[in-house]
Amino acid sequence: MKNVLFLCLGNTCRSPMAAGILNKKVKEKDIRIKADSAGFESFHIGDPPDKRAIDTMKKFGIDISNHRARLFSQKDFDNFDLIYVMDHKSYNEARYFKRDENDAEKVYFMMDLLEPGKRKSVPDPYLSDEEECEVVYNIMDKACDKLIDNLSKEKIKE
Ligand code: 4NP
Repeated sequence: MKNVLFLCLGNTCRSPMAAGILNKKVKEKDIRIKADSAGFESFHIGDPPDKRAIDTMKKFGIDISNHRARLFSQKDFDNFDLIYVMDHKSYNEARYFKRDENDAEKVYFMMDLLEPGKRKSVPDPYLSDEEECEVVYNIMDKACDKLIDNLSKEKIKE
């Protein structure tokens, strides 16, 4: 089993969307990957995802309304094999919490799945509108396909 953690700032838009997309895909394909999400801003701890994110995901048949925002914790380095960040702030925060190089090596930019090495950010729909959520959905849908493809090539056995 591979445990994948997605990180953004509020844990109310991008990262819960990414976890919802990946969990749906792996369920459909019966692959042993499990996704979760967390954030770094405390404003929305315990809140459900942003309504625009919930509505966009619903359009694509994925219900993320039960998710509750939580903060990243150093223990997440123990509980997850791979950590995908949505932007530079999340990358810097995650790396700040690293205890050693093993932790640091788990942290990747989500957009690097699509454009390796470019360290681009997934647009933050928080200050935008529902249309932006759909743009983000489509980006993450492709990125999750790539992630599954990469992990399948690794032949996940346990
Ligand atoms: P997210 O969007 O990082 O994609 O969940 C945000 C949600 C909330 C805030 C920032 C970004 N905030 O500052 O409250």
